[in-house]
Amino acid sequence: MSNPFRVGSEDALRVEPCVVVIFGATGDLTHRKLVPALYNLGVDGLLPAHFNLVSFARREYSDEAFREGLKTSVAKHSRRTPLDESIWREFAAHSFYVSSSFDNPEGYKRLADLLDRLDKETGVLCNRVFYLATGPEYFEEISRQLKAAGLMDEVIAPTGKKTRSARVIVEKPFGHDLVSARQLNKALLSVMAEDQIYRIDHYLGKETVQNLLVFRFANGIFEPVWNHKYIDHVEISVCESIGVGGRAGYFDKSGMMRDVVQNHLFQLLCLVALEPPVAFEADAVRSEKVKVLRSIRRISEKEVANKVIRARYQSGSVGGEPVVGYLGESDVNPESVTETYVAMELAVENWRWAGVPFFIRAGKRLPKRVTEISIHFKSVPHRIFQDEDVQKVSPNILSFQIQPDEGISFKMSCKPPGPRVRVQSVNMDFSYGTSFGVSAPEAYERLLLDGMRGDATLFTRDDEIEQAWEILDTTLKAWAPDAANPPPIFGYEAGTWGPAAADELVMKKVRQGWRRL
Ligand code: BG6
Repeated sequence: MSNPFRVGSEDALRVEPCVVVIFGATGDLTHRKLVPALYNLGVDGLLPAHFNLVSFARREYSDEAFREGLKTSVAKHSRRTPLDESIWREFAAHSFYVSSSFDNPEGYKRLADLLDRLDKETGVLCNRVFYLATGPEYFEEISRQLKAAGLMDEVIAPTGKKTRSARVIVEKPFGHDLVSARQLNKALLSVMAEDQIYRIDHYLGKETVQNLLVFRFANGIFEPVWNHKYIDHVEISVCESIGVGGRAGYFDKSGMMRDVVQNHLFQLLCLVALEPPVAFEADAVRSEKVKVLRSIRRISEKEVANKVIRARYQSGSVGGEPVVGYLGESDVNPESVTETYVAMELAVENWRWAGVPFFIRAGKRLPKRVTEISIHFKSVPHRIFQDEDVQKVSPNILSFQIQPDEGISFKMSCKPPGPRVRVQSVNMDFSYGTSFGVSAPEAYERLLLDGMRGDATLFTRDDEIEQAWEILDTTLKAWAPDAANPPPIFGYEAGTWGPAAADELVMKKVRQGWRRL
């Protein structure tokens, strides 16, 4: 059968017939990211021949009215403009809306009837992907209701092959701390199997993040030096220039540690530190990540103040615009002790990384948006260029610019032309933009595609998420608003690189402090 989504797509990955059901379909994530991502998969010819989208949310809409709303959002947020009308028409014709509260069994019955009807019309059993894009308080309820309505039931042929699978993609935040994450895992696993649960971390869908594995394991020359013998320290920075904006209500209960460090930043660290997996497959890759997380030394209560710095932005200016301080943002509790900046020193205590500090930081209202990983190599063991004119030989740095200006850069020493032997640092750069000349797909495109294909490699496993929370457990307890003797929360002027305490944290071990971004 001809597939309008596949025209011109030569190397499309095969996706079985599938229906994607989005819960929380009237929310921001659906309109800004999920539906534009599905539309772009359509443009790339990557959607299956039989594809349907069902949006499930509380508000009343007709199919037609909801499609119109989606069209406006896609036109605004798609990475490709203008909207391709013929692709959109096809997409909209396969898009439906179910209005129900999340705890009403009758709504799930209507959903089940709709999915059965779509299966009958297409004549195939379509795989079912349920995307939980609601607030986390609904994850358990929706999962229970899906199970009760028979929607998580898979159909397995006598050969053992699944002829219809059912999966749930769970948005973040997955838990608020170790106890709640365990509880959520337990609740989900009581109604479905681990291989039906896809916990999303959109950082893993970013091209540059996936490239970390390709860089490490498809190039023979780096792996031999990727260890404590050659590497002095590692820095990972997730810097944002935005503040909390309209999300203050959510953010004030979360903070930078829960919002970015526990998930995105730890994922980056895992990909830098993991051992070569036996294959690029879900369990192989995820098991290696779990080993890294297990190796990270737990920070004791006494160490929190020395190893972890928290801070929040005060008024200042970003990009030439004056901005208010965190406590002045609307919806922020005036008594709030929520951090908008975190810096930490972590130790990965295993054979490869013994003694190599990992400095990580994440902050809002910093001077610019930049996510970077830098691997700082050790200095040469002996300097032979002793001439007094010779500049200091600085150590090599390999840096991965995750965003923006995606690329990789290697800092090395060179002799500038001239009669004297002098040493100067220069950069060898690779840039995605100029090398490949195409715009990279959005992270959600890749992750939705993998969710539809049933490839969980870029999703987080239950033990992985619990390990990540465990690392932060003592710190989060020490930072709780009602904790006895909490460590200080520092201030930093908006538009600067964070508090002095974060510089001091690094300078205890690295004289020059954080790498300048
Ligand atoms: C989200 C956080 O998960 O990631 C946000 O909730 C943060 O607070 C965002 O701004 C950063 O993502 P990206 O892709 O813009 O780096």
